[in-house]
Parts: sequence; C-alpha cells; structure tokens
Amino acid sequence: MPKVKITALGCYTPPRLLTNSDLEKMVATNDQWILERTGIHERHIADPEMATSDMAVEAARCALAQNGVDASELNAILVCTVTPDHMFPSTACLVQDRLGARGAWGFDLIAACSSFVYGLTVGAHLVAAGTHRKVLVIGADTMSRIIDYTDRATCILFGDGAGAMILEPVADGEDCGFIDFLGEIDGSGAPFLNMPAGGSRLPPSHETVDKRLHYVKQDGGQVFKYAVRKMYESCRDLLQRNGFTGDDVAIMIPHQANIRIINAASDRLGIPPEKVLVNIDRYGNTTSGTIPLATRDAILQGRLKKGDLVLFAAVGAGYTVGTSLWRWAY
Ligand code: UT7
Repeated sequence: MPKVKITALGCYTPPRLLTNSDLEKMVATNDQWILERTGIHERHIADPEMATSDMAVEAARCALAQNGVDASELNAILVCTVTPDHMFPSTACLVQDRLGARGAWGFDLIAACSSFVYGLTVGAHLVAAGTHRKVLVIGADTMSRIIDYTDRATCILFGDGAGAMILEPVADGEDCGFIDFLGEIDGSGAPFLNMPAGGSRLPPSHETVDKRLHYVKQDGGQVFKYAVRKMYESCRDLLQRNGFTGDDVAIMIPHQANIRIINAASDRLGIPPEKVLVNIDRYGNTTSGTIPLATRDAILQGRLKKGDLVLFAAVGAGYTVGTSLWRWAY
C-alpha cells in the first residue's frame, strides 16, 4: 500500500477583526480576563455575505496553487465543519462545483474541534488504499454564525477561518508522511458542549429561536477538564505505541481552544513550549480551522521542516478526540 504525505497547505481568514476591547463593549468582560483565562487577543470574523464554502474555496485555491495542482486532478474533497452552508447539499458539493473539480466525490465530516484531524485520517486512508491519488481535506468554520454574542462565557472564544491540505502518495524511497492515528469518541460528553436546536431533535421553531437554542452552549469547566486529560493521554498513547517520546517530536500542533489546555497537556507530555505551536492569540478557536492555520504558522516561523516529526492533537464536542503523527514532507 502506498504511504501518504501532505503536499500542500492553504489557509484563509476573513479580514475583519473582533478584538477583546470590541468584546468589552458587547458583554461584561475585559481584556485581562480573556487573555489570562484563554490566551486569546483577537479573532477574525466573516462579513455577513460570506459563508463556510466561500472560506473553504479560498483556502483550497491557495493549496492547489502551492504545487500547481489543477482542481480536475482531485479524486475526493472532504470538508470538515460544524457550520456547513446548509444541512444539505453538503459544503463539499458546493466547493467541488466552485473549484471545477469534475473528477471528485466527497462529503462533509462533523467531529467538532477534532474534525480536521479526523478528515486528514480518512483522506490518508483513501490514498493509502491505492484508489485515490489526490485528496483535498478542508477544515472551515464560520463559528460567528452560531455564537451567542450576549453570552460572555462562549462569545469570547471563537473565530472564523479555514485551511486546506492536499494528500498524495509518497514516492518510492521517500521517508515521510502519515505514521499513525488514535481516535476516540465519548457521547456521554454531549450535554457539555452542543448546539441544542436545528436538527431532528429540536427542529427550528419560534420557541427555539426565542430560547436562543441555535447557539453554542458549553459547560466550560467540564470540557476544560476532559480536554486537558484526553489531549495528554491520547498523545502519550500514540507516541508510546510508535516508539517515540516527547523528545522526538519536532513540533506539536494542538487544536487551539484555550492556552491553558495546550500548556497543561504539552507540559505533561514533556514537550517544551518552543516545540508547541500556539496562535490562539490571533485567531481564537476556529474549530475545524485551527490545525491547518497553526500548521501554516509553524511553516512560516521556520518551526516545521522536511523530515520533522509533527504531532496533531485535538479534543472537541461529542466528546471527540483525535491525534495523529506525521513525518513532514516538504
Ligand atoms: O474547542 C472546543 C472545546 N472547548 C474547550 O476546550 C473550552 C474549554 N473551557 C474553557 O476554555 C474554559 O472553561 C473557559 C475559558 C470557557 C472558562 O474559563 P474558566 O476558567 O473555566 O472560567 P469559569 O467558567 O469557571 O468562570 C470563572 C468566572 C465565573 O464567575 P464566578 O462565577 O466565579 O463569579 C464566570 O462567570 O469567570 C466568569 N466569566 C467571565 N468573566 C469575565 C466567564 N466568562 C467570562 C468573561 N469575562 N468572558
């Protein structure tokens, strides 16, 4: 079976910024609390006419341009998102049409903040099966559409953004690409982070709108404790079963939900801060966008180079947990 590598990466964030001082004018909060409790300084917010597929297409075009891949060469498109343009058709279909990717099939993948790590793994297995040569995996979320900007406990956390990676087979003799994935879901965590209405359980009604049930609800403390424990345990187990320790990791690229989650997990793994990518200060939590946006920054900062061992790690609503190890290809 061919091995699989990431050959390109593109990102998009909308230009408009929502800073902590902007939020101070909207809810009872302050810059110091937000920075100390979350590490976030500002987030990017999409203008009203921009939807998730629009950001996804921008990120995808950037990835395709990076190594001159024509959209018609794509065999599959996976869009990881909790904020699709519609319940159906899938955002993957809208992206496929806009890109002109006539040879691709695809679908949307929902695993909340773990979506991109799951999408990369599914895409890697399509390529490893030998049936696909070019798979486009996009993480894109317009979180601002499902955030209650009167709820200070959640509105400070999230931002909008997208990133895309292209997966292709590794050439003979190349030592790079996908190594392993560890995933776990635990639905007992569902009550602690969810969007209650809009699905088949609570379809939209005047009542659901009046009760603000189409917004993200979170028990932050519960999710925080679970995220710290699982990000650590999942990374530890994945490293152990592949014969690695934290010392072998060139860079850990964690989901960006809270600086304190990242610090606690990486500290327990023995991975020092200089080997952990943090950009939550500038983007907040973009859900499916965090891992590609952080990977882009790792490359730009010269902290991720060909041959490096990279550890992706995410925990999110569900609960969902996903961790994967790659040897970087370019
Ligand atoms: O990516 C998806 C997964 N999500 C996560 O990983 C998020 C996990 N949770 C968290 O990041 C944190 O729990 C939060 C950042 C959401 C909250 O931080 P915390 O340290 O857990 O604060 P808390 O909820 O325990 O609240 C502490 C205090 C409360 O006041 P009292 O009850 O002690 O008087 C809150 O009402 O801080 C208050 N508070 C705020 N104060 C100023 C809550 N939000 C704010 C705010 N500004 N924005």
